[in-house]
Amino acid sequence: MRIAVLSDIHGNADALEAVLRDVKRRSPDAIVNLGDCFSGPLDILRAHELLAGAGVTATVRGNHDRALLDPAAMDSWDKMSAPQVTEAMRDWIAALPATAVLDELFLCHATPQDDTGYWLDAYTGDGIARRADLVAIEAKAAGVPQRVMLCGHTHVARMLHLPGGRLIVNPGSIGSPGYVDDPPRGTRRVFSGSPAASYATLDRIGGRWTASLHLVPYDTGPAIALARATGADDWVQALETGWL
Ligand SMILES: [Fe+2]
Repeated sequence: MRIAVLSDIHGNADALEAVLRDVKRRSPDAIVNLGDCFSGPLDILRAHELLAGAGVTATVRGNHDRALLDPAAMDSWDKMSAPQVTEAMRDWIAALPATAVLDELFLCHATPQDDTGYWLDAYTGDGIARRADLVAIEAKAAGVPQRVMLCGHTHVARMLHLPGGRLIVNPGSIGSPGYVDDPPRGTRRVFSGSPAASYATLDRIGGRWTASLHLVPYDTGPAIALARATGADDWVQALETGWL
Protein backbone atom coordinates (compact mmCIF):
# COMPACT_ATOMS: atom_id res chain seq x y z
CA MET A 1 0.00 0.00 0.00
CA ARG A 2 1.41 3.35 -1.06
CA ILE A 3 -0.11 6.80 -0.40
CA ALA A 4 1.14 10.11 -1.85
CA VAL A 5 0.73 13.09 0.49
CA LEU A 6 0.37 16.61 -0.91
CA SER A 7 0.05 19.83 1.07
CA ASP A 8 0.22 23.61 0.92
CA ILE A 9 0.03 23.95 -2.86
CA HIS A 10 -0.82 27.66 -2.48
CA GLY A 11 -1.84 28.08 -6.12
CA ASN A 12 1.56 27.12 -7.51
CA ALA A 13 0.45 25.28 -10.65
CA ASP A 14 3.94 24.68 -12.06
CA ALA A 15 5.12 23.11 -8.79
CA LEU A 16 1.96 21.00 -8.59
CA GLU A 17 2.36 19.82 -12.17
CA ALA A 18 5.94 18.71 -11.47
CA VAL A 19 4.89 16.92 -8.29
CA LEU A 20 1.97 15.14 -9.98
CA ARG A 21 4.38 13.89 -12.67
CA ASP A 22 6.66 12.55 -9.93
CA VAL A 23 3.70 11.02 -8.05
CA LYS A 24 2.53 9.18 -11.17
CA ARG A 25 5.98 7.62 -11.58
CA ARG A 26 5.68 6.13 -8.06
CA SER A 27 2.22 4.58 -8.77
CA PRO A 28 0.51 5.24 -5.41
CA ASP A 29 -2.75 3.50 -4.45
CA ALA A 30 -4.18 6.84 -3.28
CA ILE A 31 -3.34 10.56 -3.09
CA VAL A 32 -4.30 12.76 -0.13
CA ASN A 33 -4.09 16.54 0.22
CA LEU A 34 -3.67 18.43 3.52
CA GLY A 35 -5.02 21.81 2.42
CA ASP A 36 -4.01 25.43 1.74
CA CYS A 37 -4.65 24.86 -1.94
CA PHE A 38 -4.87 28.34 -3.45
CA SER A 39 -3.90 31.37 -1.32
CA GLY A 40 -1.09 33.51 -2.70
CA PRO A 41 -0.14 35.56 -5.78
CA LEU A 42 0.12 32.70 -8.32
CA ASP A 43 -2.09 31.03 -10.97
CA ILE A 44 -4.81 29.55 -8.80
CA LEU A 45 -7.15 28.75 -11.70
CA ARG A 46 -4.62 26.41 -13.31
CA ALA A 47 -3.74 24.96 -9.89
CA HIS A 48 -7.44 24.21 -9.35
CA GLU A 49 -7.71 22.55 -12.76
CA LEU A 50 -4.67 20.35 -12.08
CA LEU A 51 -5.90 19.44 -8.62
CA ALA A 52 -9.38 18.59 -9.89
CA GLY A 53 -7.86 16.14 -12.38
CA ALA A 54 -5.33 14.60 -10.00
CA GLY A 55 -7.55 11.83 -8.59
CA VAL A 56 -7.16 12.91 -4.95
CA THR A 57 -8.99 10.55 -2.55
CA ALA A 58 -9.22 12.86 0.49
CA THR A 59 -8.55 16.56 1.10
CA VAL A 60 -8.74 18.44 4.40
CA ARG A 61 -9.35 22.19 4.70
CA GLY A 62 -6.41 24.46 5.51
CA ASN A 63 -6.63 27.75 7.39
CA HIS A 64 -6.13 29.62 4.09
CA ASP A 65 -8.88 27.58 2.39
CA ARG A 66 -11.19 28.53 5.27
CA ALA A 67 -10.18 32.20 5.00
CA LEU A 68 -11.03 32.34 1.27
CA LEU A 69 -14.69 31.86 2.26
CA ASP A 70 -14.57 34.42 5.08
CA PRO A 71 -13.42 37.99 4.28
CA ALA A 72 -13.01 38.72 8.00
CA ALA A 73 -10.40 35.96 8.28
CA MET A 74 -8.36 36.89 5.19
CA ASP A 75 -4.69 37.81 5.45
CA SER A 76 -2.51 39.34 2.73
CA TRP A 77 -2.10 36.02 0.85
CA ASP A 78 -5.84 35.32 0.83
CA LYS A 79 -6.59 38.83 -0.42
CA MET A 80 -4.20 38.30 -3.37
CA SER A 81 -6.04 35.18 -4.54
CA ALA A 82 -9.63 35.97 -3.48
CA PRO A 83 -10.56 37.87 -6.68
CA GLN A 84 -9.74 34.75 -8.77
CA VAL A 85 -11.82 32.33 -6.67
CA THR A 86 -14.66 30.90 -8.78
CA GLU A 87 -18.03 29.62 -7.62
CA ALA A 88 -16.88 26.05 -8.28
CA MET A 89 -13.80 26.53 -6.09
CA ARG A 90 -15.93 28.10 -3.39
CA ASP A 91 -18.33 25.12 -3.35
CA TRP A 92 -15.45 22.66 -3.33
CA ILE A 93 -13.72 24.41 -0.39
CA ALA A 94 -16.98 24.67 1.58
CA ALA A 95 -17.38 20.89 1.46
CA LEU A 96 -13.89 20.11 2.81
CA PRO A 97 -13.67 18.58 6.30
CA ALA A 98 -11.26 19.89 8.96
CA THR A 99 -9.85 16.40 9.54
CA ALA A 100 -10.24 13.01 7.87
CA VAL A 101 -9.41 9.35 8.43
CA LEU A 102 -8.34 7.10 5.59
CA ASP A 103 -7.48 3.50 6.45
CA GLU A 104 -4.88 3.81 9.26
CA LEU A 105 -4.11 7.46 8.48
CA PHE A 106 -5.29 10.58 10.32
CA LEU A 107 -5.26 13.76 8.20
CA CYS A 108 -5.28 17.34 9.46
CA HIS A 109 -3.95 20.63 8.12
CA ALA A 110 -2.03 21.89 11.17
CA THR A 111 -2.77 19.93 14.36
CA PRO A 112 -5.58 17.55 15.39
CA GLN A 113 -6.99 20.43 17.48
CA ASP A 114 -6.98 23.35 14.99
CA ASP A 115 -5.86 24.57 11.56
CA THR A 116 -3.39 27.25 12.68
CA GLY A 117 -1.26 25.69 15.44
CA TYR A 118 2.23 24.29 14.98
CA TRP A 119 2.72 20.57 15.65
CA LEU A 120 6.19 19.39 14.63
CA ASP A 121 7.70 22.89 14.65
CA ALA A 122 7.79 25.75 17.15
CA TYR A 123 9.10 29.29 17.04
CA THR A 124 12.37 29.84 18.89
CA GLY A 125 13.76 33.04 20.41
CA ASP A 126 15.17 34.26 17.09
CA GLY A 127 11.72 34.06 15.44
CA ILE A 128 12.60 31.09 13.22
CA ALA A 129 10.58 27.86 13.47
CA ARG A 130 12.51 24.71 14.35
CA ARG A 131 11.56 21.19 15.41
CA ALA A 132 9.30 21.20 18.49
CA ASP A 133 9.99 19.27 21.71
CA LEU A 134 8.87 15.65 21.78
CA VAL A 135 6.67 16.27 24.86
CA ALA A 136 4.73 19.01 23.03
CA ILE A 137 4.45 16.89 19.88
CA GLU A 138 3.13 13.86 21.80
CA ALA A 139 0.61 15.99 23.73
CA LYS A 140 -1.08 17.07 20.49
CA ALA A 141 -1.17 13.45 19.24
CA ALA A 142 -2.80 12.20 22.46
CA GLY A 143 -6.38 11.94 21.21
CA VAL A 144 -5.60 10.39 17.84
CA PRO A 145 -5.96 6.58 17.66
CA GLN A 146 -4.49 6.17 14.16
CA ARG A 147 -0.91 4.89 13.83
CA VAL A 148 -0.03 7.40 11.12
CA MET A 149 -0.76 11.12 11.46
CA LEU A 150 -0.36 13.63 8.64
CA CYS A 151 -0.11 17.40 8.96
CA GLY A 152 1.04 20.36 6.86
CA HIS A 153 0.78 24.10 7.58
CA THR A 154 4.40 24.94 8.52
CA HIS A 155 5.69 24.22 4.99
CA VAL A 156 8.64 22.33 6.53
CA ALA A 157 8.92 18.62 5.72
CA ARG A 158 9.46 16.30 8.68
CA MET A 159 9.02 12.63 9.49
CA LEU A 160 9.00 11.71 13.18
CA HIS A 161 8.58 8.30 14.80
CA LEU A 162 7.12 8.69 18.29
CA PRO A 163 8.42 6.36 21.01
CA GLY A 164 6.01 3.43 20.73
CA GLY A 165 6.13 3.43 16.96
CA ARG A 166 3.48 5.94 15.80
CA LEU A 167 4.46 8.04 12.82
CA ILE A 168 3.83 11.76 12.14
CA VAL A 169 4.62 13.17 8.70
CA ASN A 170 4.55 16.71 7.38
CA PRO A 171 5.19 16.49 3.63
CA GLY A 172 6.30 20.14 3.40
CA SER A 173 4.85 22.58 0.88
CA ILE A 174 4.42 22.01 -2.83
CA GLY A 175 4.10 25.65 -3.78
CA SER A 176 5.51 27.88 -1.05
CA PRO A 177 8.95 27.09 0.42
CA GLY A 178 8.64 29.71 3.16
CA TYR A 179 6.72 32.65 4.59
CA VAL A 180 6.88 35.62 6.92
CA ASP A 181 3.98 35.69 9.37
CA ASP A 182 1.60 38.62 8.95
CA PRO A 183 1.63 41.34 11.66
CA PRO A 184 1.55 41.27 14.64
CA ARG A 185 3.74 38.20 14.20
CA GLY A 186 5.68 39.86 11.38
CA THR A 187 9.17 39.07 12.63
CA ARG A 188 8.58 35.32 12.51
CA ARG A 189 9.76 33.29 9.57
CA VAL A 190 9.41 29.71 8.40
CA PHE A 191 11.32 28.27 5.44
CA SER A 192 12.43 24.94 4.05
CA GLY A 193 15.87 25.95 2.75
CA SER A 194 15.17 24.72 -0.79
CA PRO A 195 13.13 26.16 -3.68
CA ALA A 196 12.06 22.65 -4.75
CA ALA A 197 8.46 21.44 -4.39
CA SER A 198 8.08 19.11 -1.42
CA TYR A 199 5.76 16.13 -0.88
CA ALA A 200 5.80 12.69 0.73
CA THR A 201 4.91 9.08 0.06
CA LEU A 202 3.88 6.55 2.71
CA ASP A 203 4.43 2.82 2.31
CA ARG A 204 3.03 0.01 4.42
CA ILE A 205 5.66 -2.69 4.35
CA GLY A 206 5.12 -5.87 6.38
CA GLY A 207 2.46 -4.19 8.54
CA ARG A 208 4.63 -1.16 9.34
CA TRP A 209 4.23 2.30 7.84
CA THR A 210 7.22 4.28 6.72
CA ALA A 211 7.53 7.58 4.86
CA SER A 212 9.77 9.08 2.21
CA LEU A 213 10.13 12.83 1.71
CA HIS A 214 10.63 14.04 -1.86
CA LEU A 215 11.96 17.32 -3.24
CA VAL A 216 10.98 17.95 -6.86
CA PRO A 217 12.78 20.65 -8.85
CA TYR A 218 10.76 22.67 -11.38
CA ASP A 219 11.12 25.87 -13.42
CA THR A 220 10.34 28.53 -10.81
CA GLY A 221 10.71 31.41 -13.33
CA PRO A 222 7.03 31.92 -14.22
CA ALA A 223 5.91 31.75 -10.56
CA ILE A 224 8.62 34.24 -9.55
CA ALA A 225 7.47 36.61 -12.33
CA LEU A 226 3.85 36.39 -11.09
CA ALA A 227 4.92 37.03 -7.48
CA ARG A 228 7.07 39.98 -8.56
CA ALA A 229 4.20 41.49 -10.57
CA THR A 230 2.03 41.36 -7.44
CA GLY A 231 4.72 42.98 -5.28
CA ALA A 232 4.93 39.89 -3.06
CA ASP A 233 8.62 40.25 -2.15
CA ASP A 234 8.64 37.45 0.43
CA TRP A 235 7.24 35.10 -2.22
CA VAL A 236 9.92 36.13 -4.72
CA GLN A 237 12.72 35.44 -2.24
CA ALA A 238 11.27 32.14 -1.02
CA LEU A 239 10.58 30.85 -4.55
CA GLU A 240 14.06 31.83 -5.70
CA THR A 241 16.06 30.46 -2.78
CA GLY A 242 13.91 28.54 -0.27
CA TRP A 243 15.23 30.94 2.42
CA LEU A 244 13.84 34.01 4.14
FE1 LIG B 1 0.11 26.94 4.06
